[in-house]
Amino acid sequence: MSILTAQVIKLTDEEYKLIRDMVYEYCGIYFQEHKKYIIENRLSRRLKQLNFTSFKDYYYFLKYDRKKDEELVEIMNLLTINETYFFRELGQLKHMISVAIPELVKSKSDRVLRIWSAACSTGEEPYSISILLKDSGVLPAGYRVEIYGTDLSQDAVAKAKAAKYRKISFRSTEPQYMKYFREQDAEFTVNEDVRLPVKIDRGNLLLPADTGRYRNMDIVFCRNVLIYFDKESKRKVIENLANALQPQGYLYIGHSETLFGISDAFRMNNFGEGIVYTKK
Ligand SMILES: C[S@@+](CC[C@H](N)C(=O)[O-])C[C@H]1O[C@@H](n2cnc3c(N)ncnc32)[C@H](O)[C@@H]1O
Repeated sequence: MSILTAQVIKLTDEEYKLIRDMVYEYCGIYFQEHKKYIIENRLSRRLKQLNFTSFKDYYYFLKYDRKKDEELVEIMNLLTINETYFFRELGQLKHMISVAIPELVKSKSDRVLRIWSAACSTGEEPYSISILLKDSGVLPAGYRVEIYGTDLSQDAVAKAKAAKYRKISFRSTEPQYMKYFREQDAEFTVNEDVRLPVKIDRGNLLLPADTGRYRNMDIVFCRNVLIYFDKESKRKVIENLANALQPQGYLYIGHSETLFGISDAFRMNNFGEGIVYTKK
């Protein structure tokens, strides 16, 4: 037996459907038929840690054990894809600075700008936003900014809170922004003044109880996560985000994502380098 097969516990089709449906109901991520190997590979080691020899026993643990909620959190650490980097899809970030914020500032009644980076993974997105706000000086004097970053993965959230990054996170970073980091032993820590407006928390975009904590948002980023959802989950998530946004608030989603056939709560605007939605 090869080392690889020795490490994997066999997942039957029936067990796959049970676990896949449970994951889908919990967070909206939908694993198609041909993705069975992902669950088999990523969860096998977890089963061994817990001394399970079959996925069926593990499924019953997930369904009925008093520690089932904690275990679902653990599963999400293993099944989510946390790929991200600083200044990803820069065209949208620049649009936020040069168009969205100046427009919002014209009509705002309070002097607080609220931005939510939903599904922020390890935090590069909310810190990129904070850096650009500071660097551009776009906000008039007397304005306060609140930036929220949330993600389902507890591991990703812990990394986002630590705000320490390796070089790989800077693969698309223009050199002038490196002054917002402190380098030590090949690790880059986000400067305190950039971290200060950013508040990171765990949250499930599918759950109104979690998303309901974010209200009166001026701008929401929800990029590169809708691709993992089916139509029904996308609808629920977008409805939750619409409820969080102010009328005329801005929503940025990933380049390969669309709200077509998902929601009519938004107007679509093509700004050349990308698309932005505004709440009706
Ligand atoms: C590929 S990353 C995108 C990170 C960042 N927005 C970007 O564009 O670079 C997708 C993130 O979505 C998170 N995610 C998946 N399902 C989620 C859910 N139901 N609620 C909140 N976050 C979720 C994952 O944990 C993962 O960190």
